[in-house]
Amino acid sequence: MKIIDGKLLAANLRAEIAAGVQELKATRGIVPGLAVILVGNNPASVSYVTAKEKACAEAGMYSREIRLPETTTEAELVARVKRLNADPAIHGILVQLPVPKHIRDKAVIDAIAPEKDVDGFTPVNVGKMLIGEKCFLPCTPHGILKLIEFSGMDVKGKHAVVIGRSNIVGKPVAVLLARKETNATVTLCHTGTPDVASFTRTADIVVVAAGRPGTLTGDMLKPGAVVIDVGVNRIPDATRPKGFRLVGDADFESCAAVAGAITPVPGGVGPMTITMLLWNTLEAAK
Ligand code: GUN
Repeated sequence: MKIIDGKLLAANLRAEIAAGVQELKATRGIVPGLAVILVGNNPASVSYVTAKEKACAEAGMYSREIRLPETTTEAELVARVKRLNADPAIHGILVQLPVPKHIRDKAVIDAIAPEKDVDGFTPVNVGKMLIGEKCFLPCTPHGILKLIEFSGMDVKGKHAVVIGRSNIVGKPVAVLLARKETNATVTLCHTGTPDVASFTRTADIVVVAAGRPGTLTGDMLKPGAVVIDVGVNRIPDATRPKGFRLVGDADFESCAAVAGAITPVPGGVGPMTITMLLWNTLEAAK
């Protein structure tokens, strides 16, 4: 059994990205710039946004943090995004989700110029991804493809089961795995699937993005399967300095006993999401 080291893969790719940033500065005088908007104080979002800013600085990029109060209106947020669309120092715009309930995700995402949509969330980029045109790929799904490749598994002809149908992870992962270049056979399971285990037991690859700890257990796996765990769940734990620990959607111990390779939480998918965001921001600047 192999642990798929997302931190190591992310460090390798970030070194490549940092070199690309230096080259762009030297040859064209352009510093890639990312604007990150956070509305409110959701603790998980604050920690993601902080990690994104740190990663930008380490890659030699410019990052602009825009923190707005919970009471921000949808119109104010949309206006803010539109100003960034017109700002030449900014090549990528990211609005951290979820936004407060009184703001529609859709209204905010639709306001982002597709050429600055480094999350790959706008309908234009989602549509291009679906029909196989060049576009910004969504960061977590793109990172997952890299992790599967890094595990050493040749995906062609394999059966991949994706658990979860979110717009951010499950649906795009299923689309990307089924593309001709990747050529997996894909099953997309979700909360309406009566017997998820009947599918995962025939899977060579399982991507679990359900947002619920314990969604995948070792008895649901075929021996040797590659498991990509996208879950980030905070479990109260008085022995930890912060009072909680992070666990994925897979029960790590039982899955690791059967799987051929598995991503840990933390240190698996998370570092890759931010890495692919840097990748897209460099591409946007180019
Ligand atoms: N919330 C959880 N994941 C993401 C992500 O990849 N991008 C944004 N903008 N918000 C998120």
